[in-house]
Amino acid sequence: IKEEGLKQIEACEDLAQLQNLRVLYLGKKGPIQEVMKSMKDLPKEERPAFGQQVNEIKSLLAGKIEERKAVLEVKEMEEKIASEKIDITLDGQKPNFGNLHPLMLVQQEMEDLFIGLGYTVAEGPEVEMDLYNFERANIPKDHPARDMQDTFYINAEELLRTHTTAIQTRQLEKYAKEDKLPIKVICPGKVYRRDDDDATHSHQFIQCEGLVVGENIKLSDLKGTLLFLAQKMFGESRTIRFRPSYFQFTEPSVEVDVSCHVCGGKGCPVCKGTGWIEILGAGMVHPNVLEMAGIDSKKYSGFAFGIGVERVAMLKYGITDIRNFYTNDLRFLKTFNRFE
Ligand code: PHE
Repeated sequence: IKEEGLKQIEACEDLAQLQNLRVLYLGKKGPIQEVMKSMKDLPKEERPAFGQQVNEIKSLLAGKIEERKAVLEVKEMEEKIASEKIDITLDGQKPNFGNLHPLMLVQQEMEDLFIGLGYTVAEGPEVEMDLYNFERANIPKDHPARDMQDTFYINAEELLRTHTTAIQTRQLEKYAKEDKLPIKVICPGKVYRRDDDDATHSHQFIQCEGLVVGENIKLSDLKGTLLFLAQKMFGESRTIRFRPSYFQFTEPSVEVDVSCHVCGGKGCPVCKGTGWIEILGAGMVHPNVLEMAGIDSKKYSGFAFGIGVERVAMLKYGITDIRNFYTNDLRFLKTFNRFE
């Protein structure tokens, strides 16, 4: 019994089986109990020695069972740990962080620059009244200057605004009514024109308009402001130049160029060798525009400029097709993700 018991306990590989062995050898019906029962057949004087021997075997087996149990318990624990182990060296799945659209990045960068100069940000409706988009911008009905901007009309009085100058004319009126001059606002927003989309044209784009009106505002103030903008957006070494231009709502009007940064002369892919890149239109707010808004043009003067956000983003990031901004190709958009 002893040898057999030890053998079985040693060979036992799991705890449930070991429990069965315990019941068998130490319980009430096993071979040891059988032997004990047969003790009554022995002569009296042999019984104590016999009993002692059986008890020794019993406690030997009990001890072995405990030993084996401890070993199996450790083994079971190790297996459990091994099977539940997490390999922290494996690559995890990266969470997808969204990111701001490149146009939004540029727009916010410009807003921040002007907020730093004490401007406030103003917005307006995209479905705009003819009144604010054109008439208050000194472009009366049937005036040929309307042809400069091909317009989506909704009806005779409403249209999709063609420029953020519509926000400007609303702001002028608001400040005049509230008697809150001087004005320093930055007006970003979507605008629409009936253009056929191609690499450089989009029927929807974003403009950012700047407007300052106060006493003694001069063209040189405009120039200083735009030089600051160009250098902050494109690099401190940039310069700007004014070229005469025409807008109904400004007088004088200028087209503004920023110096080319890539320029290797004639073959330059960015400026075609001219050394200059056109970035925006600007000018001194036309006295008619001030007067129509209810502002005394003898006392106050101002400047305004309108810049295309796509154009700035394309120059800044070297993007050659404006349609990239609107086709939502994740491979394009993700290049602006600061988490990737
Ligand atoms: N509104 C003009 C345009 O869309 C830009 C501009 C704004 C020009 C303000 C002068 C002053 O082309």
